Amino acid sequence: MKCLVLGGAGFIGLHLSRRLLEDGHEVTVVDDFSRGRDDPELTALDVSVISADLTDPAAFESLPGDCDHVYLLAAVVGVRNVERDPSRVIRINTLVVLNTLDWITPGRRLFFASTSETYAGGVSAGLVPVPTPETVPLVVEDVAAPRFAYGISKMLGEAAVVHAGRAKNVPVVVGRFHNVYGPRMGADHVIPELCLRALRREDPFLVYGTDQFRAFCHVDDAVDAVVRLMGTDAAIGGIVHIGDDTAQTNIGELAELVLKIAGHSPTIQCAAAPPGSVTRRCPDLTLLRALTGHSLSVSLDDGLRRTFTWYRDHQS
Ligand SMILES: NC(=O)c1ccc[n+]([C@@H]2O[C@H](COP(=O)([O-])OP(=O)(O)OC[C@H]3O[C@@H](n4cnc5c(N)ncnc54)[C@H](O)[C@@H]3O)[C@@H](O)[C@H]2O)c1
Repeated sequence: MKCLVLGGAGFIGLHLSRRLLEDGHEVTVVDDFSRGRDDPELTALDVSVISADLTDPAAFESLPGDCDHVYLLAAVVGVRNVERDPSRVIRINTLVVLNTLDWITPGRRLFFASTSETYAGGVSAGLVPVPTPETVPLVVEDVAAPRFAYGISKMLGEAAVVHAGRAKNVPVVVGRFHNVYGPRMGADHVIPELCLRALRREDPFLVYGTDQFRAFCHVDDAVDAVVRLMGTDAAIGGIVHIGDDTAQTNIGELAELVLKIAGHSPTIQCAAAPPGSVTRRCPDLTLLRALTGHSLSVSLDDGLRRTFTWYRDHQS
């Protein structure tokens, strides 16, 4: 099959492209390189690369029109981006989705990357259970708070994708990622930050939000879920949680694991979590398993080792 990965030079996009190639597909990567990188790992892949800003409808004229599967991952992500410029996050994430939906025609299948942030307000407000299924209401506690801009942009994306899919007769599936981690994910996330600071032998070692629980999902498992969903007719039109419900840990234990892998024993100093972040997050994966038979293959320990090794080898 011919696959188009929008945002393919980014973290999940590169791992997904690699997996699609391994599965024997032809892959075209599209990215504006605002965050994704044209680095040796991308160059090493046998993919066509198109540099384009997908907020511009004209950019779609240069995309191959004969692709079978389209993976829409392009977005502005990250707490720092959303705190710094929430209007940019809303503008870019919204335009990229709407332009993709205007361009796509029947005969292609579309995956849209959404996020657990769509329902995070409901967790903070105590309105939804954890582990969280897809059926919970999506809650915005404060529409004017910058941190909700990302979740709001993805709520709109979900609705736009599901409705346009129906209206245009394009098979679509929405995957809500939950704390995906792995090699080449940049530095603006807790796991790479811990790895890089452990490599620098920081002592004392500051850890934010030690009592916050997360379920971290290795990128190989997340990509496997995406590929399976796109190959499952029963998933079409649906919204499905993607993550790792077996790898729940609090940030304090996570830091200890990373420090053990790094062979570093500093004094740990605990600090408060960033304001507004939920105390616990874990997906309910019942639907994903029932639809696709997906099973997890990378333990947290193994995934952290692989990630740490990558950051050790790519510190520059
Ligand atoms: N990593 C996670 O844990 C996680 C969790 C929830 C949701 N997601 C979603 O998954 C997707 C991929 O996330 P990621 O972690 O790989 O992020 P990423 O930032 O590494 O990848 C996004 C890519 O989109 C590109 N991009 C941004 N604006 C663009 C534009 N206007 N035109 C073309 N390309 C553009 C960036 O350059 C980048 O390469 C995103 O949609 C994100 O919201 C990720």
